[in-house]
Amino acid sequence: MSDRGELFAGDDPFAITRAWLAEAEASEPNDPNAIALSTVDANGLPNVRMVLLKDIEPDGFVFYTNYGSVKAQEIDAAGGAAFVMHWKSLRRQVRVRGLVERAAGPEADAYYESRSLKSRLGAWASHQSQPLESRATLMAEVARVTARHGTHPERPPFWGGYRIRPLEIEFWADGAFRLHDRFRWTREKLTDPWSVQRLYP
Ligand SMILES: Cc1cc2nc3c(=O)[nH]c(=O)nc-3n(C[C@H](O)[C@H](O)[C@H](O)COP(=O)(O)O)c2cc1C
Repeated sequence: MSDRGELFAGDDPFAITRAWLAEAEASEPNDPNAIALSTVDANGLPNVRMVLLKDIEPDGFVFYTNYGSVKAQEIDAAGGAAFVMHWKSLRRQVRVRGLVERAAGPEADAYYESRSLKSRLGAWASHQSQPLESRATLMAEVARVTARHGTHPERPPFWGGYRIRPLEIEFWADGAFRLHDRFRWTREKLTDPWSVQRLYP
């Protein structure tokens, strides 16, 4: 018998993440889907930045970015990444570590299409993570891509999604007197079933 309790109920860690995110959407002041995405560089030095989690699929977490960015280069080289989501309003966190693949093609096209025109043009204009001389240079680039791509820009070939396919998902919920609840779902391979372990806080 599991002593996990209602917050951690069920066998599907994606369903728990979705349920917690839905709660956070009601209580967070903004960006409840913001995640701190961690990568590692060629020397093993960790790196971290916020991105927005755009989809929780049956077996993956998807975010969008520029494929030339530092994060993309680090992900492509290492093949893996980690992220943490923390909601101050709920006093809960979700931690994820896994293997990463590109989510390009129709799925990325559909998400790109759903964005505002300015955001779509912005994706064309930003050489993300490259040095930028001035704000004026960026605005000139926006004007240039607007003239070139008009009101129906295609998704840039250098912009799309990444799907994190987790090997570990850990849920943490605040408890009285720092006796928090922690449960970790793990699997050695993506095709293995999950096993769940309660951890000391
Ligand atoms: C709340 C928040 C959400 C963000 N969402 C994204 C995002 O979804 N995709 C993205 O590429 N950058 C996003 N950024 C910007 C990144 O944090 C980062 O500055 C940028 O992607 C460059 O990172 P890199 O040089 O490590 O590749 C976001 C920043 C903040 C503060």
